Amino acid sequence: MNAEPPLDGFSHTAIIGAGSIGVAWAIVFARAGLAVSLYDARPERLPTAMAELRQRLEELAAFSLLDEPVDQIAARVEPVADLGQALAAADYIQEAAPEDLAVKQALFSALDGLARPDAILASSSSAIPASAFATHLAGRRRCLVVHPGNPPYLIRIAEIVPADFTDPDLAERVGRFLAAAGMVPVRVKREIEGFVFNRLQGALLREAYCLVRDDVISVEDLDRVLREGPGPRWAFMGPFETMDLNTRGGIGVHAARMGPVYARLGAERGQNDPWTEDLVAKVVAERRARLPLDRWQERTAWRDRRLMALARLKRDMRDE
Ligand SMILES: NC(=O)c1ccc[n+]([C@@H]2O[C@H](COP(=O)([O-])OP(=O)(O)OC[C@H]3O[C@@H](n4cnc5c(N)ncnc54)[C@H](O)[C@@H]3O)[C@@H](O)[C@H]2O)c1
Repeated sequence: MNAEPPLDGFSHTAIIGAGSIGVAWAIVFARAGLAVSLYDARPERLPTAMAELRQRLEELAAFSLLDEPVDQIAARVEPVADLGQALAAADYIQEAAPEDLAVKQALFSALDGLARPDAILASSSSAIPASAFATHLAGRRRCLVVHPGNPPYLIRIAEIVPADFTDPDLAERVGRFLAAAGMVPVRVKREIEGFVFNRLQGALLREAYCLVRDDVISVEDLDRVLREGPGPRWAFMGPFETMDLNTRGGIGVHAARMGPVYARLGAERGQNDPWTEDLVAKVVAERRARLPLDRWQERTAWRDRRLMALARLKRDMRDE
């Protein structure tokens, strides 16, 4: 295994759990030049995991998404069947075991006991917060959630979710490290079930299920609405920027115009979370700090150029 110069102070990672997410994290870190020890509780999983890793790297190379040859990146990943050995050199540990509270509790106890005292213990957990599995640990200050999308080497978001007991500086340090490794980290300010990624995904999915349940639309047509509607815009912008650019005058005008409609749609589903004046003012203030209204036109032209590039890509890939 060829260790490279440190990346923002980190040089050796360990991935604990070599399933879908574990293998994908190994690609992220090896691609960034870090040494990776890849461990799984089922040692027989490791050869398959290494074969998957190579196959995924080859696909990335075919799309010109790697800066180095596949062999050079793959050589940084070492499958290790012993947990202590996997952790021995690691300064950053990314747990990617099944989403099961008892598994994560037992595993974090073992990690805290075996890892170097200065190593960071991050969980890929989709919904279980660190306070549920690390509260009892002597080293709980070094524990937090780093929740990826799937697969993290393509979906670059990483939700950093510290617990109340996590060292206050850790989220920022981990954020710098992940950014240096090519990820797009965001800080979730406090623990909340489902974090933000899955809460947003869940809001959409709940409504989608209701619309199919009430026979308003077919499953395929609902997917089509998203794919050909908001989806392309969401490749470049979030819902706040989307609405800001959709309405001349920005998101404040949008909220005044459409707020009552969206409130009625929410009430229909038993939700009572009106966009109050204060809340809208907070959103407007942050948007205007990012995009003064005198640059609104320029930004909508930017959006349209992005959509044109995406339209060309979709046209070229029509046969897939
Ligand atoms: N799949 C996703 O879309 C996704 C996205 C983001 C986060 N996550 C989270 O990532 C974690 C892993 O998910 P996955 O989809 O890769 O699961 P997976 O089932 O594909 O892989 C889990 C791996 O962990 C191994 N394992 C089981 N117990 C272990 C232990 N005690 N120690 C070490 N390894 C152990 C299993 O043998 C398996 O190879 C979960 O917490 C999940 O919620 C998943």
